[in-house]
Amino acid sequence: MIEPTARDKFASALHQAEIKEKMGKIKNKIAVASGKGGVGKSTISALLAVSLAKRGYKVGVLDADIYGHSIPRIFGVSARLSGRDPEIYPVLTRKYKIKIISIQFFLKSDDSPVIWSGPLVGRAVIDFLSAVEWGELDYLVVDLPPGTGDASFIVLNFAEPDGIIFVTTPHEVSRHVVEKAIYMAMESGANLIGLVENMSYFVCNGEKIDIFGRGATERISRKFELDIIARIPIDMKISKLCEEGRIEDIEEDYFKDFEFSKKKWR
Ligand SMILES: Nc1ncnc2c1ncn2[C@@H]1O[C@H](COP(=O)(O)OP(=O)(O)OP(=O)(O)O)[C@@H](O)[C@H]1O
Ligand SMILES: [Mg+2]
Repeated sequence: MIEPTARDKFASALHQAEIKEKMGKIKNKIAVASGKGGVGKSTISALLAVSLAKRGYKVGVLDADIYGHSIPRIFGVSARLSGRDPEIYPVLTRKYKIKIISIQFFLKSDDSPVIWSGPLVGRAVIDFLSAVEWGELDYLVVDLPPGTGDASFIVLNFAEPDGIIFVTTPHEVSRHVVEKAIYMAMESGANLIGLVENMSYFVCNGEKIDIFGRGATERISRKFELDIIARIPIDMKISKLCEEGRIEDIEEDYFKDFEFSKKKWR
C-alpha cells in the first residue's frame, strides 16, 4: 500500500473519503489487468461481466481505459452524460442491465478522441470512483488500460479491488509485460485471483491448434503460484459479437467453472 503523502498527490482527503464510501458499498470488485495492450482485457472484462450477470448477479463495468475506452462499443451502448452533475448514474446494457461507466459517455460524440495529459486522466478515474452511484452491486468489473500508468495505479490503490485477474496470451513477449503488471499489483497489496489465457488456441476442423505456442502462461502460473482460471480460444464469434456490440448474446460461458469467492483469493 502506498504512503499517505503519495496518495494525497493523486486525490484530496475529501475524494479519498468519497471513494471509500462508494467502493465500500460494492460487494466484490474485480480488476482486469494485463500490462500488455491488445491481449483482450476489455473482451475478457465483458465476458466475465456477462457470465456473472447470467448467474443473476447485479453487475457493473467500470471502463478505466480513458484513451482507449472500448467497453460501450462491446456492449453496444451509447449515451451522453454530464460531468457537471454531482452524481453520475451508469448506463444500462440492453439484455442483462449491466451498469456501465466509460469516459465515452462524457465526450461530445462517440468518435471524439481524448487528448488529455496524464493528470487529467487520473482526475477522470478519481471522479469515476468517487462520484458514480452504482446502487446495489454484487460485482464491479474494472477494465484497466494497458501499461502500469496513472489509471491502473489509482484503481489498484484507491478502489482497493478484492481481486485482480491478469489477461495474457501464450506469447513470450506477453509474459514479460504481464509480469510487470503482476508486480505492480502485488505492491498495491491487492489479492491476485489468477490468469486468463486469451487467444489460447484456435479450433480448425475439430483440431486444437496452438498458433501462439504454449508454455508462457504456465511459466507465469508457476512463478507467482497463480491459477489459470480460463483459456479462451481465438474465435470469430467473439470478435464479431464485440464488433457488433452484442457481447451479451454470447452462448459460451468461459467462466462457468470458476467460483468467485473472496475466501479463495489471497
Ligand atoms: N478470444 C478472442 N477471439 C477473437 N477475437 C478476440 C479475442 N479476444 C480479443 N479479440 C479481439 O482482439 C481485439 C483486441 O481485444 P481487446 O480490445 O479486448 O484488447 P485489450 O487488451 O482490451 O486492448 P487495449 O490494450 O487496447 O485495451 C478486439 O478486436 C477483440 O474483438
Ligand atoms: Mg481494452
